[in-house]
Amino acid sequence: MANMKPSVVLVYILTIFFNTGNATRSRSFSKFPAILVFGDSTVDSGNNNEIDTLFKANFRPYGRLYPGHTPTGRFSDGRLITDFLASILKIKNAVPPFLKPDLSDHEIATGVSFASSGSGYDNATNDVFQVISFPKQIDMFRDYTARLRRVVGEQKAKKIIGAALVVISTGTNDISTLRMDRNDTGYQDFLLNKVQFFTKQLYDLGCRSMIVAGLPPIGCLPIQMTTKQQPPSRRRCLHNQNLYSVSYNQKLASMLPLVQAKLSGSKIAYADIYEPLMDMIHHPQKYGFEETNKGCCGTGFVEMGPLCNPTTPTCRHPSRYLFWDAVHPGQSTYQYLTKYVEKKVLPKFL
Ligand SMILES: *[C@@H]1O[C@H](CO)[C@@H](O)[C@H](O)[C@H]1NC(C)=O
Ligand SMILES: *[C@@H]1O[C@H](CO)[C@@H](O)[C@H](O)[C@H]1NC(C)=O
Repeated sequence: MANMKPSVVLVYILTIFFNTGNATRSRSFSKFPAILVFGDSTVDSGNNNEIDTLFKANFRPYGRLYPGHTPTGRFSDGRLITDFLASILKIKNAVPPFLKPDLSDHEIATGVSFASSGSGYDNATNDVFQVISFPKQIDMFRDYTARLRRVVGEQKAKKIIGAALVVISTGTNDISTLRMDRNDTGYQDFLLNKVQFFTKQLYDLGCRSMIVAGLPPIGCLPIQMTTKQQPPSRRRCLHNQNLYSVSYNQKLASMLPLVQAKLSGSKIAYADIYEPLMDMIHHPQKYGFEETNKGCCGTGFVEMGPLCNPTTPTCRHPSRYLFWDAVHPGQSTYQYLTKYVEKKVLPKFL
């Protein structure tokens, strides 16, 4: 290596970086021709850019680490888990939003995101925030299917949808502090009913392989900690809110195998994001994090969406922060979460 030109060395290093560990495993996962994504800001790649809502992130400093430093509408400084998953699965490097105006036929054939930031399983959530409800996302999926048929033909379209990986990531926006404080477990059951209903709808529309994400530790989201007005030096995760996430997740994880059993030929896997996030919070140094209880944007206590804008100062080293804004993880956190999903969830589809 000593006499290689610097640019060659750089390419070499990048090649190692992007290929590490993927080479053998990805081959076995390459059976997915497309990725189809439903949910909230954890997986919205820019649908909200096209609708009339305050829940947008298509301005700086969002997208600071995204290729070309482009603010795409993703609520992060870079790519999302679904983008990284699409890479690992050798589908493509980013999952475009379905509402993107000039979506190419190739983008259609390899999958899109129908997700909308601020949305949830519950219609009431979407009415509050004026975003795209889950039933509307499924309507968009119907339009998508019609276009896919025009692009690749009836038979091939059926095949692509049947073999696609569906990712569903939502729920956090449905759960208000009030419900958590009251330990409203009935509402968890209400949401889980919706999960059953929507997975069945997607199944009836031809989807077979689905990943359903659980809730994050809601009590550790910077904005939640802020509501309890703890002094900045002694901010800590809200235990009861985390317990609420845990009990929802337990119910979800035990329900999904039953849903799968009812939908013959389906594979429906639970994706735990709670445990890996808690590990990052308890052992930040393992991940190179120095700050886990506030975001990188602004004070980190409240800023997100319109409050995290081109005039807001940001931290110097976002990769040392678990959270990018007061609600959403940064790209490095998403990268660690993706590794976890790759190891724990994807093998269930082999
Ligand atoms: C939720 O909205 C969808 C479509 O927008 C509608 O079909 C459904 O009946 C609504 N559900 C409830 C419980 O209001
Ligand atoms: C909430 O209610 C459930 C079910 O009754 C119970 O198992 C759980 O411990 C409760 N959580 C809290 C924080 O009280």
